[in-house]
Amino acid sequence: MNLTLTSQAPERVETEALAVVVYESQPGAPASPRMDPGGIVSELFASGEATGKPLDTVLIHRPQGLAARRLLLVGGGKVEQFDSAQLRRAAGAALRFLKGKGVHEFVFAPSGNFPAGAQVAAAAEGLLAGDFEPDSYKTDKKDDKRIDRVAILADSSAQAALDRGVVTAQAQNLARSLINEPANRLTPKDLVARSRQVATDSGLEIEVLEQEQMQSLGMGALLGVAQGSAEPPAFIVLRYRPAGAPSSSTHLGLVGKAVTFDTGGISIKPAEGMEKMKYDMAGGAAMIGVMHALARLKPSIPVTAFVPTVENMPGSRAQRPGDIQTTLSGKTVEVINTDAEGRLILADALTYARRQGCTHLIDAATLTGAIVVALGHYNVGVFANDQVLLDRLLQSAKECGEKMWPMPLDEDYKEQLKSIIADLPNVGTRWGGAITAAMFLKEFADPTPWVHLDIAGTAWLEEAKPFLAKGPSGVAVRTLIDLAMKLG
Ligand code: BES
Ligand code: ZN
Ligand code: ZN
Repeated sequence: MNLTLTSQAPERVETEALAVVVYESQPGAPASPRMDPGGIVSELFASGEATGKPLDTVLIHRPQGLAARRLLLVGGGKVEQFDSAQLRRAAGAALRFLKGKGVHEFVFAPSGNFPAGAQVAAAAEGLLAGDFEPDSYKTDKKDDKRIDRVAILADSSAQAALDRGVVTAQAQNLARSLINEPANRLTPKDLVARSRQVATDSGLEIEVLEQEQMQSLGMGALLGVAQGSAEPPAFIVLRYRPAGAPSSSTHLGLVGKAVTFDTGGISIKPAEGMEKMKYDMAGGAAMIGVMHALARLKPSIPVTAFVPTVENMPGSRAQRPGDIQTTLSGKTVEVINTDAEGRLILADALTYARRQGCTHLIDAATLTGAIVVALGHYNVGVFANDQVLLDRLLQSAKECGEKMWPMPLDEDYKEQLKSIIADLPNVGTRWGGAITAAMFLKEFADPTPWVHLDIAGTAWLEEAKPFLAKGPSGVAVRTLIDLAMKLG
């Protein structure tokens, strides 16, 4: 899909459809007073056919006085509450609505009581993310349901904002396309190949640790998970380095869980819903997406992504419950449950990231079913050992329209992580499972300032939203790009 700016007068744009936002608290007064051709919008509000409620859509054909063939009203909710997150959704909803109607090209008019640049960036993100479809392996794709071009109504001073929005959305969609791949088409080896492609395309440095190197380093926790699969593991390191002297000593490390399929291993998962465990690499995919964007946006600090990738299978060489593994840090772990594999690979990845000199660490992982119980499918669970980094991350999340909720991580929970034979067990009790998982990670992240994002409930949309298709969401990509650009 091609995305451009157009600074024509709204009533003069010749297009299949002009999409504008209308508000609940200003009935009948769309973005611009000129946008009420023949009083039709006021009339629709008066009759209750248009409400302006969030994402409510009304399509008008042949609007009087407009060069556009259709006028689409997209509800923005209350104008006082209309921010970039709402605008992003409105843009996505407009695109998906018009795509469903067989429209191929349209013009989107952003609005809101916030800077034009932020409006254009959010609109671009919403449009491109809204255009993503998870149907890559359908052979009878309907070509008539495709948007080729969208122009955003804004003057050319918003070009930089448009570019940034496009880069951000492309990163999110890159993550989504990786997440969407089934495990037979995206093994750890395939993820390495895809990462190499990203590195070559964008000028990032890439290093891949193979099994033998991980053995000599002593990544026993990661290798323990991998040993049940015929697919060898890999440890992907992507490096972005700013040109010239860095502006501060900050070095951000992004660690992403990339289990290309999680059967649970010997502690095998029930069959129902197991097919979804192809998305257990969503944390790693998010980090690859973020790096792709950062290579273009060029933050002032060095950023390194660490993506440990394995397949968790119950093969004859698989690790067993009760096995002891020695982590890269030297700490020993009693593997009580082979399905708690994410924390094992992340333990070694966090240690490695610290040894590479990262001063700040953020990990993203589809880590626990327990976070889904706690927060459902709306909020990412956020855990941290550092209030300053946590606050900055939550601020970025808010600005990027990604809902994230801080969870507790006090020492009391460590009580649950006791083993009589080793330093740590890999699971706690049934209760507070997302927190004990985070507590386990903290053992390997401390004392480096660190934030952990449990995206198990948010990385996969169980239902389509008006602005986003069902399937991989690409959550955390936008927030982490924003944070990396602001750190330092
Ligand atoms: N990949 C799963 C977590 C998960 C669950 C992701 C649901 C997405 C949706 C993880 O490896 C896992 O299996 N965790 C176990 C931990 C338990 C054994 C302590 C879980 O949550 O059940
Ligand atoms: Zn698991
Ligand atoms: Zn898992």
